[in-house]
Amino acid sequence: MHQRIVQQTLLVLYFLLSHNGVEGQKKLSKLEDAELEKQLKSLNKPAVKTVKMKPTLSRINKDSTFSSATNRSSTIWSKDGGCPFGTIPVKRITKDDLIRLRNMLPPEDVTFVDEYDVSNNNSEPNGRYISSQGYKVVAIAQIPYNPNSKFAGAGMDTALYNPQVKGQQHNGSRLKIHKGLDILQVGWRVDPTLYGDTKTRFFIHFQAGKIHCFNTLCPGFVQVNYDLPLDNSFMDTISQRGGRPWGARMYIDRDLAGNWWVLVSQEFTRVGFWPQSLFTDLKSFATNVDWGGVVYSPPGVPEPPMGSSYFPIENSSYDAYCVGVIIFNKKGKTIEVDKTITHIDNPNMYKVEFIQLSYGAKDMYFVLYGGPGESTHV
Ligand SMILES: *[C@@H]1O[C@H](CO)[C@@H](O)[C@H](O)[C@H]1NC(C)=O
Ligand SMILES: *[C@@H]1O[C@H](CO)[C@@H](O)[C@H](O)[C@H]1NC(C)=O
Ligand SMILES: *[C@@H]1O[C@H](CO)[C@@H](O)[C@H](O)[C@H]1NC(C)=O
Ligand SMILES: *[C@@H]1O[C@H](CO)[C@@H](O)[C@H](O)[C@H]1NC(C)=O
Repeated sequence: MHQRIVQQTLLVLYFLLSHNGVEGQKKLSKLEDAELEKQLKSLNKPAVKTVKMKPTLSRINKDSTFSSATNRSSTIWSKDGGCPFGTIPVKRITKDDLIRLRNMLPPEDVTFVDEYDVSNNNSEPNGRYISSQGYKVVAIAQIPYNPNSKFAGAGMDTALYNPQVKGQQHNGSRLKIHKGLDILQVGWRVDPTLYGDTKTRFFIHFQAGKIHCFNTLCPGFVQVNYDLPLDNSFMDTISQRGGRPWGARMYIDRDLAGNWWVLVSQEFTRVGFWPQSLFTDLKSFATNVDWGGVVYSPPGVPEPPMGSSYFPIENSSYDAYCVGVIIFNKKGKTIEVDKTITHIDNPNMYKVEFIQLSYGAKDMYFVLYGGPGESTHV
């Protein structure tokens, strides 16, 4: 009985704190509330079951150099929670989702990557990205910047981890392509602000000039395959450091009409696309591509661990990584990446390496990333 009261008190406290902590915001005004309701209505329109547009995407399974080369465990992309066959597990967007969304930062500073060009290739940062809102730290490998590059997309197989996060921290791995002010990302993250839980989940994100958005929390992304929820949980296939690594494959791929597709798994399964009309700079090809890890911590919280929370030891059973990093050239041809420059916002606390390691029967390039941050447990 006593215990129960304690439990209930804790529960109430939890909700109070999580309201102030995670959501961290004042109560909604009537006006804001009405605005949210309006957004919800437009976002939760009945799903369009058939997409009239014919995809002009030519990518097929045998394009992949990597589909059969490896013997690693690959996550099973499937319906989250086992919906009966034939039903559509569209996640209905709730008011809580939208409230959390309002508290999200843009995923990374827009102005920050363009400036690493070939003349500054020693991976020295211009200074980590610190804002009044806390820090974001990235440890990435990127294609040397050349304003004349024309990338029609990129891909990776990323190791899945389930890092501990607290409050507004987030933690993940992603592939990012961009040109000018337009950015596209796919990856996984643990992000209570975005998801309301601490599961490792798939995410996509676009930024087009000043608009930016995760998953389908605002209009923009056209989903064509509802078997693959955009917040897919990977909790059944999480890697343990020193154990068997689990990975997930994901790609961004531009079709001939200029739409940007999200594809997953070695079968290049289509999830959906961002229409070309959303973009200004990404109406044409991308100039920048990078892969790696990212962590965020709110103000006053020490810089968090990243990746497996250890510096890479050049063993993919121990290190967080992206492997099978590829780009699609302007003709859509798959090119295995064998040269990158690396960038770490804070080289004392994190490391990133781009090296060849054995992967199944062959050697492949890995982006290994991670580090203890300011934590003292390592
Ligand atoms: C890039 O860095 C490598 C190794 O530090 C160096 O050998 C090369 O000359 C650099 N390239 C340019 C264009 O600065
Ligand atoms: C990121 O993940 C590592 C483990 O993978 C964890 O130790 C660290 O605390 C996480 N960082 C944040 C900001 O949650
Ligand atoms: C990497 O770690 C695994 C698991 O501990 C071990 O079996 C393997 O030999 C290591 N690989 C290398 C190249 O050290
Ligand atoms: C793939 O895994 C199986 C079972 O773990 C093993 O017997 C086989 O040799 C592996 N193949 C390669 C190419 O590594």
